[in-house]
Amino acid sequence: MSLIDKLDHNRLPCHIAVIMDGNGRWAKARGLSRGEGHREGVGAIRKVVEAASKASVQYLTLYAFSTENWSRPSEEVDGLMDLMVYAITRETADLKKNGVRIAYIGDMERLPENVCAALQECIRETAGGERLTLVLALSYSSKWEIAEATRKITSDVTKGIIQEKDINEDTISRYLTTRDLPDPDLLIRTGGEQRISNFLLWQCAYAEFYFTDTFWPDFGEEELYEAILNYQGRERRFGKISEQI
Ligand code: FPP
Repeated sequence: MSLIDKLDHNRLPCHIAVIMDGNGRWAKARGLSRGEGHREGVGAIRKVVEAASKASVQYLTLYAFSTENWSRPSEEVDGLMDLMVYAITRETADLKKNGVRIAYIGDMERLPENVCAALQECIRETAGGERLTLVLALSYSSKWEIAEATRKITSDVTKGIIQEKDINEDTISRYLTTRDLPDPDLLIRTGGEQRISNFLLWQCAYAEFYFTDTFWPDFGEEELYEAILNYQGRERRFGKISEQI
């Protein structure tokens, strides 16, 4: 029996964000190259996207490449960029067929031209998808995003577009790259580390965190449902007390 049958369909997380960690260690344990770990990681993405869609999750955000990842050895960075182009191009038709809309968050200016082109084509092609929004965080970091938002807010105050006295939490949310997305309900990190690594710091203010030792290439449908079940066992109080919920 699949764990999907145990899920409470009235209490599904609307938005799941994932820090996909452990590709390198997965490969090392098998005497393979880190690149092979990342290739296997793409297979896991496919499984998890299908599983999320099957469970009627509406938004899935994947941390595919952080701002800090630019400082990895250049062969690994180049290999990852090529892999993104390959995977995005190969999957576009299937994503479209399955109603998956691709969205992007991150610093597109730092991405190689071929990655931008593949991504923009995929975003255009899948724009009509209504089943699941798959957000790729690529060249993304939360501190970068908050600094960008601050710069734009300051500039709009100077131009008189907004007034300093009107700046509140909603204003800041509207200037982030995630402006069109609901905040994540559940943040999953694979690979055994228990940290947030500069990912969606503002947006995860009230997310439930789920850490698993499973390396990303081994994470699949049942592992996703296990994380959702764990989430459904928690009481989300948003600062209130039980009796108020
Ligand atoms: C973390 O594992 C994984 C990454 C930095 C890259 C993940 C990217 C992919 C799986 C490809 C994404 C493709 C598309 C189309 C979005 P790690 O290398 O940090 O593993 P380690 O901690 O074991 O070394």
